[in-house]
Amino acid sequence: TIDGIRSNIRWLRAERKIGELSPRIGFVPTMGFLHEGHASLIQKARAENEIVIVSIFINPKQFGPNEDINRYPRSPQEDQLLCEQLGVDALFTPSVEEMYGKSDIYTHVHVDLLGNFLCGKSRPGHFDGVCTVVSKLFHIITPDAAYFGQKDAQQLRIIEQMVHDLSMPIEIVSCPIVREADGLAKSSRNAYLSKEERALAPEIFNTMKWMKQQIILEENDVRQVRVEAIHRLEGYPGFKVDYVSIVDKKTLAPVDHIDHVSGTLLAVAVYVGNTRLIDNINIA
Ligand code: PAJ
Repeated sequence: TIDGIRSNIRWLRAERKIGELSPRIGFVPTMGFLHEGHASLIQKARAENEIVIVSIFINPKQFGPNEDINRYPRSPQEDQLLCEQLGVDALFTPSVEEMYGKSDIYTHVHVDLLGNFLCGKSRPGHFDGVCTVVSKLFHIITPDAAYFGQKDAQQLRIIEQMVHDLSMPIEIVSCPIVREADGLAKSSRNAYLSKEERALAPEIFNTMKWMKQQIILEENDVRQVRVEAIHRLEGYPGFKVDYVSIVDKKTLAPVDHIDHVSGTLLAVAVYVGNTRLIDNINIA
């Protein structure tokens, strides 16, 4: 419960208080069904903080009307075990009612601009839901630092901006993407893939690497490479491209040329069968 986690945090703070220094709290928000991607965030938090807190909350506000939240995979016992093994001090697993009450809340965080590109385009309201829950979690946990994966590059960028815009005194720590041996980015959603789909899914990362090579080494036209990449991806059975975008790292707006000063991100979302997979790499 919220009261429970708050009194736990107070207890942990008092217990670990060394001299006049208040212990640093690192926080890893998740939706559970934890895998090595989540574990890498927890390990980084463990190395950099006196207290590590993980939350597991499948947030209904970030699921669209066509996205089935009840199908979202869960493994509470395995998650708890993994957290214990990784030395997590407290696990916060609130219920929907506890977070949003019986009749919902009346105040939400709204994301301008950054929420309109990439995933924000095909998932309207998604990032408002993410930011609303993340700010609630920040207020409950009161972390010094919070850990987010580059796997969700737009989410990370939006959270960094939210913390800046709303003056939240929290350091946002960016963590690299953890991949399977064949290059597929680890994701809870990979569990939805059939055997055939799973075998083809690494073509997303392969295509991104090919694009990076075409653009950087061969100095080919960004727009042309993009068109060819979409064609290539849609050539695989069951693949439907949501977007293949080359964007500015800060504004997330599409660009025609890579920019080594502001940084350029290649981001992709592809339906493999019914499962929407996302991935990204830095190309400048
Ligand atoms: P979830 O999808 O569970 O992801 C939790 C965190 O793990 C996110 O910061 C995500 O970027 C990171 N992550 C997932 N797969 C990763 C991988 N392969 N490598 C590195 N990091 C990875 O993202 C959410 O939950 C939610 O939107 C949340 C922030 C908890 C708000 O509800």
